[in-house]
Amino acid sequence: MQGRVCIVTGATNGIGEVTALELAKMGATVVIIGRNEQRAKATLQKIKSAVMNADVSYLIADLSLMRDVKRVADEFRAKYDRLDVLVNNAGIVSDKYVVTDEGLELVFALNHMSYFYLTHLLMDMLKASGTPSQKSRVVSVSSEAHQVGKPNFDDLQFKNKYSSIRAYGQSKMMNIMFTNELSRRLASENANVTANSLHPGAVRTGFGADNEGLFRLVIKLMRPFFLTPEQGAQTSIYLASSPDVEGVTGKYFAKSKPKQANKNAYVEADWTRLWSYSEDTLKKLGMSL
Ligand SMILES: NC(=O)c1ccc[n+]([C@@H]2O[C@H](COP(=O)([O-])OP(=O)(O)OC[C@H]3O[C@@H](n4cnc5c(N)ncnc54)[C@H](OP(=O)(O)O)[C@@H]3O)[C@@H](O)[C@H]2O)c1
Repeated sequence: MQGRVCIVTGATNGIGEVTALELAKMGATVVIIGRNEQRAKATLQKIKSAVMNADVSYLIADLSLMRDVKRVADEFRAKYDRLDVLVNNAGIVSDKYVVTDEGLELVFALNHMSYFYLTHLLMDMLKASGTPSQKSRVVSVSSEAHQVGKPNFDDLQFKNKYSSIRAYGQSKMMNIMFTNELSRRLASENANVTANSLHPGAVRTGFGADNEGLFRLVIKLMRPFFLTPEQGAQTSIYLASSPDVEGVTGKYFAKSKPKQANKNAYVEADWTRLWSYSEDTLKKLGMSL
């Protein structure tokens, strides 16, 4: 990975942090994006003390806010002249219905819109950095929770009835649908960029820790059976770096192997519908694409 520049979002904990560390070990230039400066500094220190001469830095953004996504993309462009790998990883589950100050439902905003918008804003750099023999990569961390996430296009942001499981499941379904449509578009342009999504496994991280009630209880009871973050990051690292997947695109992976996602993830009309909805959402916010 020497000479390759990688972004990992949500790299101040869990799966993202291990992904950033392992990419730095392979010699990549790693830019972590976190929402909290102290935590970003701590991750930076952790990586620097584990990897001699690690080329790692951080940028700060609350990725649930599209204005922050835009700002952080601009900051990245000002500092770096290439981007080889974008790992869209930052994600949450929320037991409460929360609307951001931009008016978007929080889980939709962070888990889907930040993937969609950041990828768009940096796509020209990804395209310019890829070559036919070493394509740039967009890796999006989804989840098997997508199985319960058939999108309800009449109410994608749960204005009527919020359910944490359905909101999370739908956002993770969107990660796969977005990846599939992105990959289709890139292939039709012959762009030197691939896009894949993945399920990391059930992993012992900070995920869901600030939730209350049943969800928290289930996570607590199941924790002893979960993978470590080191195990859970393996598929992200594989998709970001392995020569085995050079040129592979539009696939959903688990345990570093392609896997069939739920059949609802393969409805092409829904991919384009989600794409248009996401573009419209940004336009309504006055955000440029
Ligand atoms: N853990 C699992 O079992 C599991 C299973 C399937 C899929 N996943 C997926 O794996 C990904 C990583 O989750 P994880 O398990 O590693 O969770 P985690 O330990 O909670 O880490 C999530 C990361 O996202 C960051 N983040 C949260 N909200 C953010 C925001 N508004 N702006 C910017 N960054 C934000 C967190 O920052 P802070 O450090 O500031 O909190 C943290 O770095 C998620 O997409 C999740 O859906 C996890």
